[in-house]
Amino acid sequence: MYDECLRSQKEIVLCEDGTNTLYSKEFDEPYHSTKDGALHESLEKHVKPSFSLKKEKEQLIILDICFGLGYNTFATLYYIKKQKLSIKVHILSPEFDEGLVRSLDTFDYPKEFESIRSIIQDISQNLYYEDEQFKIEILLGDARKSIPKIKEKIDIIYQDAFSPAHNPLLWTTEYFKDVRAICEEDAILTTYSTAAAIRLGLYENGFLIFVHRAEMMRYSTFASLKMLDLEYIDMELKKERNPTARSMKDRDF
Ligand SMILES: C[S@@+](CC[C@H](N)C(=O)[O-])C[C@H]1O[C@@H](n2cnc3c(N)ncnc32)[C@H](O)[C@@H]1O
Repeated sequence: MYDECLRSQKEIVLCEDGTNTLYSKEFDEPYHSTKDGALHESLEKHVKPSFSLKKEKEQLIILDICFGLGYNTFATLYYIKKQKLSIKVHILSPEFDEGLVRSLDTFDYPKEFESIRSIIQDISQNLYYEDEQFKIEILLGDARKSIPKIKEKIDIIYQDAFSPAHNPLLWTTEYFKDVRAICEEDAILTTYSTAAAIRLGLYENGFLIFVHRAEMMRYSTFASLKMLDLEYIDMELKKERNPTARSMKDRDF
């Protein structure tokens, strides 16, 4: 049961794409950009750019940081079903707000998620779902503790924590080092953040940085351990031009 105390720390907000998100009073921030829209943002910033590169693979392991309302996970399933892909996907998603996940069976999701309604119910009840094609695991607890314990090698990271200003420990160079340590050699990462400090933290851990542009949305960041034929950002040049730029460090918080 999603108790009154937790519920009172969140409010439902309607995004410009017509989908619902929440506003967290605890983090003083919405779960999604209300301008870009919860579903639109999930699909355009995370799912489509990732699958445009990886959909030929037979199986993928995705790290979804953090689960929240589960839009990124659910939009991945929706996309795979809509495109009729046979790819097998295992999603690992840290989340410390158990009450939120357990409340999701009553959340008013968009009609696009109708076909996965029973999966949403299973995850909400069991924090886990598995069939022949999909395996979804909520890693309950602090992501900084659960990530170093992950044994799987990750192909895709959806880096979708609250903002660096409000949730800095999920954006530091030490955090990205832990993420890098569990990555496949050709792993990619998608994130809405375009801040120099975040790009530097990724770059210091071996990620090459690219700009991702999608329709009707602010540009975002795409990071990859391998060079890609995308709009590349030369971080050495960025550092020369902005010598005071620094990545975020755990010790600062
Ligand atoms: C911006 S929301 C995630 C939005 C999500 N991708 C979605 O589609 O709804 C951030 C989430 O991170 C969770 N969170 C914040 N810090 C965390 C931590 N250290 N460990 C695990 N979860 C955390 C919050 O409870 C919240 O649900």
